[in-house]
Amino acid sequence: MTLARLDEVLRDALRDGRGVGAFNVIQIEHAEALVAAAERARLPVVLQISENAVRYHGSLAPIALATKAIAQQSEVVCVLHLDHATSEQLVDEAVALGFTSVMFDGSRLDDETNRAVTRSVVRRCRGAGVSVEAELGEVGGKDGVHAPGVRTDPDAAARFVADTGVDALAVAVGSSHAMTSRTAHLDLDLVAAIRARVPVPLVLHGSSGVADDQLRAAVAAGMTKINIATHLNKVFTRAVRGYLDDEPGTVDTRKYLAQGRSAVADEAARLLELIAMRTDVTV
Ligand code: G3H
Ligand code: ZN
Repeated sequence: MTLARLDEVLRDALRDGRGVGAFNVIQIEHAEALVAAAERARLPVVLQISENAVRYHGSLAPIALATKAIAQQSEVVCVLHLDHATSEQLVDEAVALGFTSVMFDGSRLDDETNRAVTRSVVRRCRGAGVSVEAELGEVGGKDGVHAPGVRTDPDAAARFVADTGVDALAVAVGSSHAMTSRTAHLDLDLVAAIRARVPVPLVLHGSSGVADDQLRAAVAAGMTKINIATHLNKVFTRAVRGYLDDEPGTVDTRKYLAQGRSAVADEAARLLELIAMRTDVTV
């Protein structure tokens, strides 16, 4: 199936009161697992490659083109998304490679610079038919330290979207990146307040730290794109470790990577269904 733009997928989901799972690809096995999960759940999926993953591989093209090929062969709608890009050059490279969406993360820039650079990214991406997500109010934990304290102001969020023209906005509402326990407490009233003022779909980052009931409540309160990475890496690593503990003589990498891939496919399918479930949770 052809790749879809993020704004189209999120617009449909928002209209229907559903969320969309956005999961990170690091190895090719992640891409295979996530597309298998989406096919099983018969739901769209956002396949995202972060600037950190690009740093790990040394360049964007190999993992991006592999992920794109897997997505194009799939039976479901996939978005190919660049995650947490701080480099405009990397954004341009992603656009040239056929990404359908990018997140420009200027949350560590001063407000004026963040707006100016985000606006210029939007201008360039719009011309190429690529969606843009931005972040306002830095979601903590990008340096590996749990930091859930920051909050996005609803009025500032509305002004930022009007100023920049972004298609989706990541907001800080109590989650934090790279949590290994699902104990974050989201400020659901704040989600609803931002939803009421901001015309574009909202993005929850650091969702690995958010338990199932809070994920559903977050979607009910107005979150649409739900980003999960660490939790699925935990699932992958647990399966690989279990296999190698049981089979210490293993040398063929396919034996244990297949275990990780299959465990991620199961959990990602479960999460896609959970996030996409219409819910009557009220906040
Ligand atoms: O952009 C990616 C996500 O925000 C993932 O965060 O690893 O805490 O789930 P996480
Ligand atoms: Zn994130």
